[in-house]
Amino acid sequence: MNYNFDEIINRNGTDSVKWDAVESRWGRNDLIPMWVADMDFRTAPFVIEALKKRLEHEVLGYTFACKEWSESIVNWVKERHGWTIREEMLTFTPGIVRGLAFVIQCFTQKGDKVMVMPPVYHPFFLVTQKNEREVVYSPLVLKDGQYYIDFDRFRRDVQGCKLLILSNPHNPGGRVWTKEELSLIADICYESGTLVISDEIHADLTLPPYKHPTFALISEKARMNSLVFMSPSKAFNMPGLASSYAIIENDELRHRFQKYMEASEFSEGHLFAYLSVAAAYSHGTEWLDQVVSYIKGNVDFTETYLKEHIPAIKMIRPQASYLIFLDCRELGLNQKELNRLFVEDAHLALNDGTTFGKEGEGFMRLNIACPRAVLEQALKQLEQAVINLK
Ligand SMILES: Cc1ncc(COP(=O)(O)O)c(C=O)c1O
Repeated sequence: MNYNFDEIINRNGTDSVKWDAVESRWGRNDLIPMWVADMDFRTAPFVIEALKKRLEHEVLGYTFACKEWSESIVNWVKERHGWTIREEMLTFTPGIVRGLAFVIQCFTQKGDKVMVMPPVYHPFFLVTQKNEREVVYSPLVLKDGQYYIDFDRFRRDVQGCKLLILSNPHNPGGRVWTKEELSLIADICYESGTLVISDEIHADLTLPPYKHPTFALISEKARMNSLVFMSPSKAFNMPGLASSYAIIENDELRHRFQKYMEASEFSEGHLFAYLSVAAAYSHGTEWLDQVVSYIKGNVDFTETYLKEHIPAIKMIRPQASYLIFLDCRELGLNQKELNRLFVEDAHLALNDGTTFGKEGEGFMRLNIACPRAVLEQALKQLEQAVINLK
């Protein structure tokens, strides 16, 4: 079956953060929204079908996690990522950011140090700060158009840190970390007594020829010293259902986390969360392959368009997912002027690069998970705005 990702769906009026919060955030409603990380494609049809079918019953009582929830995760993780896990290794979390907050609360005390590698998905440091832990920033290095880890710096920075929050793959840089890089992270963190949280929410959207290495499979040190978070929410476009999970191999870490979660019933999911995960993972292979291929087409389209029409803006080519970090430094604008260019001249709503840390200065993050015609229109508007700069 061929799925249609070219269809333009009007999302206005659905209380969508990406679409309906544009006006309150930018004070205008004439911008193409290309910011919040969800897709403008229809949520995978088998997920919608499963929810509709359940709604037909018309009694929405208390519900436990269906057997298919854990079985489908075990099968998916095995088939897609080559990781053999047992059902008891799973803990439901109502979203990954909340999951990170729970880990911070469970495994650290106020004032403890938590490391992040900016530019990085901002809730990593915001949640840490709001929970009154100290954020240690160990910046990535941009070299030949890709982000890398400066391991000398990493080794120094991580000393004394209780946790490392790793975006694997990376947002906003789109890097798929290599096994060698992950193995070094695992070794260093094991020695420094730093627990690794590997946030793998974008893993299923890894773009060929890249392959996602799951952190826990990297080495024995990685397996024993990590919590891995996964979710079908990005890949199948269902983040509004807040259904994710942690996989913890280490018995001691798992028991501690589960005890913490159960004490406040944080690990109790809801009816639609369980059903949707099971539906996505039980029927998702073909749809996912097609959406990944469409996204890759959009990445190629953006790369070619920028090279041919807006050469002063360089893209960090994502190896996974649909977020593109645009390097706009050659335009010679300060951050305020850059935002002005995108909003007032190009009529586009992107994430300001500095949202992800001061290292994002001169950058903007573009979400290309939209029909190609919309992407083309957006790039045309950007091209015109850049021409008008001169
Ligand atoms: C790296 C990363 N982690 C977590 C999230 C959000 O996860 P959730 O909606 O499950 O809290 C995002 C969303 O963009 C993300 O990019």
